[in-house]
Amino acid sequence: MQQMQDIVVSDRSETFLEQALGLLGLRSGKSQNAGAASGPTGESAGYSAVDLAAALDDPVLLIDPLANVTFANSSATQAFGTFTLGRSLFLRFRAPEIRELVEGVLASGQTAYCEFAERLPIERAYKVFAAPVGAGTSLFAVVFKDQSETRRIDRMRADFIANASHELRTPLASISGFIETLRGPARNDPKAQAQFLDIMQAQTARMARLIDDLLSLSRLEMKSRIDPARTVDLKALLDRVVDTLTPMATEVSIIIERRFGAGRIIVAGDADELTQVFENLIENACKYGQSGGRVIVSIELASDEVQISITDFGPGIADEHIPRVTERFYRVEQDGVPAQKGTGLGLAIVKHILTRHGGRLSIRSKIGEGTTFTVHLPHQDKS
Ligand SMILES: Nc1ncnc2c1ncn2[C@@H]1O[C@H](COP(=O)(O)OP(=O)(O)OP(=O)(O)O)[C@@H](O)[C@H]1O
Ligand SMILES: [Mg+2]
Repeated sequence: MQQMQDIVVSDRSETFLEQALGLLGLRSGKSQNAGAASGPTGESAGYSAVDLAAALDDPVLLIDPLANVTFANSSATQAFGTFTLGRSLFLRFRAPEIRELVEGVLASGQTAYCEFAERLPIERAYKVFAAPVGAGTSLFAVVFKDQSETRRIDRMRADFIANASHELRTPLASISGFIETLRGPARNDPKAQAQFLDIMQAQTARMARLIDDLLSLSRLEMKSRIDPARTVDLKALLDRVVDTLTPMATEVSIIIERRFGAGRIIVAGDADELTQVFENLIENACKYGQSGGRVIVSIELASDEVQISITDFGPGIADEHIPRVTERFYRVEQDGVPAQKGTGLGLAIVKHILTRHGGRLSIRSKIGEGTTFTVHLPHQDKS
């Protein structure tokens, strides 16, 4: 793309340049770089459509009025394989939408576009533009704008909203059902009333928690990196977290073992955020690994990182779920475990926080034996 800045095209290909830059969303880039472009522009005057197409990052084909390919840039061959020059474009693109687009542009000389998707070898979605290359050249350009990433992000956003609404709607529906019952059949039944109010309270608490988690995620997304000047005494922090969670662990008959080793370990980080990380991991280990009876929290020093592992001896996580548990709202269905109280946002938050700390999370698990979640953090100092 670098060459783009210095290109001044002849009148002949100006239409194509204008259109190509516009189509690729680069027109503003050109004006931004106007200063830089005031170098040896004279020498580059007269660049042809082929030079221009070759310089573009997106797949571009040049075709003649019979739709035979006269040039394919390297992005086009990378995306669609090699083209035999002089052969019809339709040998490679059989999709009716491409045929319609190209035939239309060849006949009318007017720029047009269509949507085009290929499933093989991988699923890709393109917006395809076809345009004549300047008056009198009898060349036409077909430009492919890859939309796959944008589509993926759009889908993620839609999924996220759908999931969040669903998660909120379920407790809300149950609360509204209980209100009706309290007004109707349970009006004169104090025992049932007390029980329903308890459930309603639990449901509102769950909704409040979900909203807190969502806010926490969006706050984390807004500030992408932590202040590297802040440091945390890791062992002291873990001690506090384990102390806080011990009553909850005792309730589900879990003993939390600390294997911290000697010496202080200081890492760069935000104490509140790291507390959130370890609270969620240890809480998960107690909640989902309850059958194992114990959870081990250990710290190890590797060459340039600290590894904090949380191991449980519960049912484990099947391989196919492991890469997905850090996705928002993802929860693994477990036999015998009642509908989980969690929101499925905990590990998504963990992953976000660790990324901000220049760290990462790794997960090892064996069905029937247990799971180890390891937090890897860059190691700053020890004493
Ligand atoms: N130690 C573990 N053993 C087995 N499954 C686990 C373990 N930790 C997490 N999981 C699975 O991963 C899912 C996602 O965990 P995550 O912490 O993101 O959400 P959650 O615990 O359901 O909700 P929240 O953390 O918001 O309360 C859990 O629902 C559970 O199915
Ligand atoms: Mg959790």
